Amino acid sequence: MMLQDLGPYPKAEGYEPALALDLSDPLRNHRDRYVHTGDDLIYLDGNSLGRLPKAAIESLEAVIHRQWGDRLIRSWNESWWELQLEIGDLLAPLLGASRGEVIISDSTSVNLYKLALSAVNAAPQRSKIVTDDLNFPTDIYILEGIAGQLDKELVIVTSDGVHAPLEELENEIDETTALVSLSHTVFKSGYTYEIADVNVMAHRVGALTLWDCSHSVGVVPIALNATGSDLAIGCTYKYLNGGPGSPAFIYVRSDLQDSLENPITAWWGHAEPFSFDLDFRPVSGIRRFHTGTMPILSLAATEAGINDVITAGVDNIRAKSVAMTEYLVEQWDLHLRPLGFELASPTDPDRRGSHVSLEHEEAWPITRALIEVGQVLPDFRAPDNIRLGLSPLYNTFLDIHTAVQRLQLIFESKTHDAFAGVKTTVT
Ligand SMILES: Cc1ncc(COP(=O)(O)O)c(C=O)c1O
Repeated sequence: MMLQDLGPYPKAEGYEPALALDLSDPLRNHRDRYVHTGDDLIYLDGNSLGRLPKAAIESLEAVIHRQWGDRLIRSWNESWWELQLEIGDLLAPLLGASRGEVIISDSTSVNLYKLALSAVNAAPQRSKIVTDDLNFPTDIYILEGIAGQLDKELVIVTSDGVHAPLEELENEIDETTALVSLSHTVFKSGYTYEIADVNVMAHRVGALTLWDCSHSVGVVPIALNATGSDLAIGCTYKYLNGGPGSPAFIYVRSDLQDSLENPITAWWGHAEPFSFDLDFRPVSGIRRFHTGTMPILSLAATEAGINDVITAGVDNIRAKSVAMTEYLVEQWDLHLRPLGFELASPTDPDRRGSHVSLEHEEAWPITRALIEVGQVLPDFRAPDNIRLGLSPLYNTFLDIHTAVQRLQLIFESKTHDAFAGVKTTVT
């Protein structure tokens, strides 16, 4: 089957209602602020790696030529030393946090390790860490590692694979719990927790909460301060469009900052790093969660994406995201459900992030055929999940309409049969 057999893009059959939605979309002008390839690729993977903002190219060129090329090491004093705090402050409103509560640092995995261990160490008499099986695997591996090293118990509450096991969580969170660590929007089904409810459960018994906001930041409004959240971390390369491997963020509630110890007692968290003192003295405030020298090029690249989210307004982004996931669920119901695709995301839009997962036993070859033949790029999550990420700043309703139509055609023509044996490292 050739791409042209799938119908011309964007004018695939019955496209008019989707086009009408795009024409009345208040965010439609943002699409051109991102780099799009010349072909008609429908990119539904902005929840893994966001598109490249054009403004990031300009700012990186300035950093490379002026700051690195010309000013060299003087740039540390002129701008680089403070950059992770400045971008943290820029990001803070998207997390519902205050200035001085957010920094950019390390990767999400490393930040989770730093904050989880600092929280557990702060309550040595408590023996339990609570999470659920919807959490991202690296989060679970790290929590398991901490529990093993400190002889604590990690409780992984079992879900139905889509929705949060709220009652079971409540049963597990008790006076022996040091930390509750969950993903705000979960990576597979897109279920989105009501942060306030879990915080209440934890705080009632004196436990701390640590939220992984990787799949919600930039697309779901987050209110860390208003919900009394203690700790949070997350990626900047998804809906914030920060670039491959861009450094992650850390949030620590201001009144907790000086009572927690960063377990990686490294020089960037020292009160006077350039005293080269042999004794470690942690600096006061959010800086104590720093580790070492930042990758300045990647750090600088995050600013453009965060700025565009702020310009668009996260409430507007959320409104479009809900409309888009609703439209996709509607299209699934009409065209894909009869073919045996199951919805593996919540039906309630209030409980859903900005991606929709479809389950099918042939999900792997279907995903490959979609990418190779259909020019639709979602991702595959083992064992049977096709994850369709909708990024409201550059995805359109026509993207969704056409992607569903191509998925239907590929499946009905059995085009995916040819892809059953294909292997890739990254899925
Ligand atoms: C929810 C979630 N948490 C943590 C991570 C790990 O991030 P990193 O590999 O940048 O440490 C990811 C990566 O995709 C993720 O989706």
